[in-house]
Amino acid sequence: MRAALSTRYGGPEVLSVTNLPTPHPGPGQVRLRVHATTLSRTDCGSLRAHPFFIRASLGLLRPRNHILGLDFAGEVDAVGPDVTRFAPGMRVFGLSPDQYGAHADTLCLSQDAPIAEIPGSLAYADAVLCEGAWYAETYFDHFGLGQGQRILIYGASGAIGTAAVQLAKARGADVTAVVGTHHVPLARDLGADHVIDYETCDFTATGDTYDFVLDAVGKTSFFTCRPLLAPEGRYAATDLGAWWQNIWLSLWYQLRGSSRVRFPMPVADPAMIRRFAELMEQGRLRAVIDRSYPLERIAEAYAYVETARKTGIVVIEP
Ligand SMILES: NC(=O)c1ccc[n+]([C@@H]2O[C@H](COP(=O)([O-])OP(=O)(O)OC[C@H]3O[C@@H](n4cnc5c(N)ncnc54)[C@H](OP(=O)(O)O)[C@@H]3O)[C@@H](O)[C@H]2O)c1
Repeated sequence: MRAALSTRYGGPEVLSVTNLPTPHPGPGQVRLRVHATTLSRTDCGSLRAHPFFIRASLGLLRPRNHILGLDFAGEVDAVGPDVTRFAPGMRVFGLSPDQYGAHADTLCLSQDAPIAEIPGSLAYADAVLCEGAWYAETYFDHFGLGQGQRILIYGASGAIGTAAVQLAKARGADVTAVVGTHHVPLARDLGADHVIDYETCDFTATGDTYDFVLDAVGKTSFFTCRPLLAPEGRYAATDLGAWWQNIWLSLWYQLRGSSRVRFPMPVADPAMIRRFAELMEQGRLRAVIDRSYPLERIAEAYAYVETARKTGIVVIEP
């Protein structure tokens, strides 16, 4: 099989796209021919082991998983003994959060991993939206976001932000999206009820308040957003923030019995991926694709994603 391999931490220069022995599916495993994957900010952080503490889970001196990549869409091409949920030929998509491995043309996973069938005839590249959606949905589950509640999504143009707008609308929330000027049409198209252009307008000075504020790009802070929160309003961010403040604030409020600030760790679950499949089938959740790269050019893709200016997702086609 062909894979993007990294056996030490560093920038895109540590990657080599190389041939490896094709794995055989073990008991309870499915083997996929990967047709599309993404290159996310998580992959960038994992490649460089940044922030440093993630070495505790990735490997202290060098990475335990030599192939990154969490999101995948592809076709089941073989199954191991005792597999009951999948059969060769099925078109599936999902996440591989425990072992990564999707930056390759072949991936073996447990049939109990977060995998679901791709709805209808959706293209593989249009099905690799799970990682951003997974983060957004985890936050909304923690918020208990529901019908008619008001949410402000700061940075609604990235992988998490574009999914967050659509998932919040699917829950019946009233969504305000904060984006840069050239992303205003996109935010409207994704269904945001109100759009604020952060380049021409101070989003904290509108006089509105919200039940929830989600910083989806790690570019604002609880202290900036606090005046926007309704009395019982809650704040969450997808990034640690300066001095890891979002972790400390979340702990501080929890100790006081409050969930004013949340920093939940997402746990992937097959039911969540099936929910995304339903929404995709209903046309209520779609991937926003910035650009695509063949696996051979994955180093270029890293350089682009690390600019932190992409729109939605960057697709890799092994
Ligand atoms: N991707 C993941 O699955 C993942 C997982 C865990 C954590 N995270 C963290 O979550 C954050 C977001 O990840 P992501 O992948 O969704 O981000 P991303 O796709 O890299 O976000 C880029 C977007 O942010 C917008 N942006 C840049 N500066 C901004 C500003 N000052 N205000 C508002 N928007 C701004 C950019 O558009 P403009 O420049 O046009 O505004 C661009 O569309 C990152 O800090 C990342 O480390 C990501």
